[in-house]
Amino acid sequence: MNRAIWLSAVSSLLLITCTGKAPGGGSPGAFRPGEIWPDTEGNPINAHGGGVLYQDGVYYWYGEIKSGETRLPVKNKTWTGTRVQAGGVSCYSSTDLVRWNNEGVALPPVADDPGHDLYPGNVIERPKVVYNESTRQYVMWMHIDSEDYSAARAGVAVSDNPVGLFVYRGSIRPDGSMSRDMTLFKDDDGRAYLVYASENNATLHISLLSPDYLSPGGTFIRVFEKRSREAPAVFKYGGRYFIVSSGCTGWDPNEAEYAVADSMLGTWTVRGNPCQGPDRDKTYFSQSTFVLAVADIPGAFIFMADRWDKQNLPDSRYVWLPLRIQGDTLSIAWRDSWDLTAFKE
Ligand code: DGJ
Repeated sequence: MNRAIWLSAVSSLLLITCTGKAPGGGSPGAFRPGEIWPDTEGNPINAHGGGVLYQDGVYYWYGEIKSGETRLPVKNKTWTGTRVQAGGVSCYSSTDLVRWNNEGVALPPVADDPGHDLYPGNVIERPKVVYNESTRQYVMWMHIDSEDYSAARAGVAVSDNPVGLFVYRGSIRPDGSMSRDMTLFKDDDGRAYLVYASENNATLHISLLSPDYLSPGGTFIRVFEKRSREAPAVFKYGGRYFIVSSGCTGWDPNEAEYAVADSMLGTWTVRGNPCQGPDRDKTYFSQSTFVLAVADIPGAFIFMADRWDKQNLPDSRYVWLPLRIQGDTLSIAWRDSWDLTAFKE
């Protein structure tokens, strides 16, 4: 290394160490929606359609492992049907939400059994995890499907620690219904709900899970009837429940919409698109996956979304943006770069 380059490297390091700022003015602790997001080893984070669990001071980010060639399955010859081999579910951990450690594969695929739900030729999407205090188990639910998306099932797996390995328990059609895009929501009272796109994606169902979270408890409601909402993300604030969802256009982006209710099984009122400004009609070219409650900052929530690249699915990016809540009104605005101080503005 010549002397000029060496001096420049040392001064950059000093700048970061002393000021916490990276050269060029960006902060190393910033979210950069739509850009490649490396983990702490420098590899792009591979956790698509994901969700985050906060447990004992640590955030765990679970998501779909997408790698390898993007292809068109034999049964679907339009670009809306592109797939990669299902790679199972990844887990990353963080204490600051920006720097993520790769904890490895939390739920591996089953490569040697074409009849297994987790066979790589099938679909494993949108994994979410909640912790059950009574059983002391981490419970993962996910969308399980056949390569052509005709199976429409929900799979469940359990682990006694957050990073896995999770043990797969099988899949069902919850409440006897088709189930594709899904999320989990655990309420303050310990009840947990499976929220899934049902009736061939026409209507969402909200299903109260059994006390062990391993099966539907038998009570469910149908919401947004025949309005084709998918990619649900649920959170609670100020005693109200919110669902943000997308329209149903394959990998292509569309307009987000949110709804509010006084209880999970209550009456949901549709309130419109929370996104503001340019590209609000395309959710900034992304699709909802989760709303993350920031620990220790009351009222701070992050809208998590995927910017799918249907021709190169492993290069799909993450769009995380601050979600503002005023009463029962939500708003999201685009930012090129931001950090948690945004919640103090
Ligand atoms: C939209 C869903 O939200 C995604 O999870 C994925 O299933 C794509 N459709 C597939 O086209």
